[in-house]
Amino acid sequence: MLKIEGLTRYYGNFLALDHLNLSIGDGELHGFVGPNGAGKTTTMRILATLLPASSGYAEIDGVVIGKDNRKARTLVGYMPDFFGVYDNLKSWEYLDFYARCYGIRKKDRQRMTEQLLELVGLTDKREAYVNSLSRGMKQRLCLAHALIHDPKLLILDEPASGMDPRARAEMKGILRSLKDMGKTVLISSHILPELSEMCDSLTILDHGKLIFSGTVEALALKMNGDAPLDIRFTSGCGERPIDRAVTLLKENPLVLGITQEEPNMLRVRLHGEEAACADVLRMLMREELPIADFHRAPMNLEKVFMEVTQNA
Ligand SMILES: Nc1ncnc2c1ncn2[C@@H]1O[C@H](COP(=O)(O)OP(=O)(O)O)[C@@H](O)[C@H]1O
Ligand SMILES: [Mg+2]
Repeated sequence: MLKIEGLTRYYGNFLALDHLNLSIGDGELHGFVGPNGAGKTTTMRILATLLPASSGYAEIDGVVIGKDNRKARTLVGYMPDFFGVYDNLKSWEYLDFYARCYGIRKKDRQRMTEQLLELVGLTDKREAYVNSLSRGMKQRLCLAHALIHDPKLLILDEPASGMDPRARAEMKGILRSLKDMGKTVLISSHILPELSEMCDSLTILDHGKLIFSGTVEALALKMNGDAPLDIRFTSGCGERPIDRAVTLLKENPLVLGITQEEPNMLRVRLHGEEAACADVLRMLMREELPIADFHRAPMNLEKVFMEVTQNA
């Protein structure tokens, strides 16, 4: 559905997007994650044909961006991160107005407006003025707006930002419905766990550069391979066993780093996976150090995100 190759954008001399490669399959729900300033909005605006790329290639369902933008626009529904509001319109009038812009006939407009309000859970707000809606409701109305021309690809720029947990859960439900309708979705957020729960695959971007692209499972696997080993020694065992352990660990080539997290606990970062763990534990056991407990701590996704974006 979406193919991006070497997509690059400068603002003056500033490189905001640096040779991005990305592809998203039909019907995929793809999360686009990165801290503020990563280049998410820039990418999305290019795909929505609102901003020209400096160089590179992007196509949506075979239509090349920058070449056939009119056609591309029929394929894309874009929900910006910041939206203007039409205060003097009711919810249904707002949607009806845009449907008219797309040249949709009155009979169809009525049916469609009701369907869209239903989809985004705003049926009971159809007569409410847009400016009286909560932020979450306005965002959902904007999503309905992005769906009016029945686009194949939805580009949603931080639709869950500033939402409370309940509104976020509702947004998740809406995204599932979109998936059931066969839509492909590219959704951005600066909060990784928010997306990892609901997306099939993810791309992590930082300072305009791609850091990771793949399934949520692949990301977790990649990171858990590096999960540190926590070793707890019996309490009250004094300084010596810990000091002895540190000395031994420092000499082991499989050990990348050691931190003392608690008086009785060391966190060991290892080079390699299970075999390295086994090797290190065997070594400590041989010395008869009083180990009470050990486990590899899988990192949560928020930590993973901090880590991958820090090392970029
Ligand atoms: N119109 C602009 N002029 C100059 N710099 C811009 C403009 N728009 C965005 N930028 C810069 O490009 C970088 C990427 O911005 P953006 O795509 O909005 O990131 P994100 O959406 O991930 O927060 C940021 O450093 C931002 O300051
Ligand atoms: Mg943005």
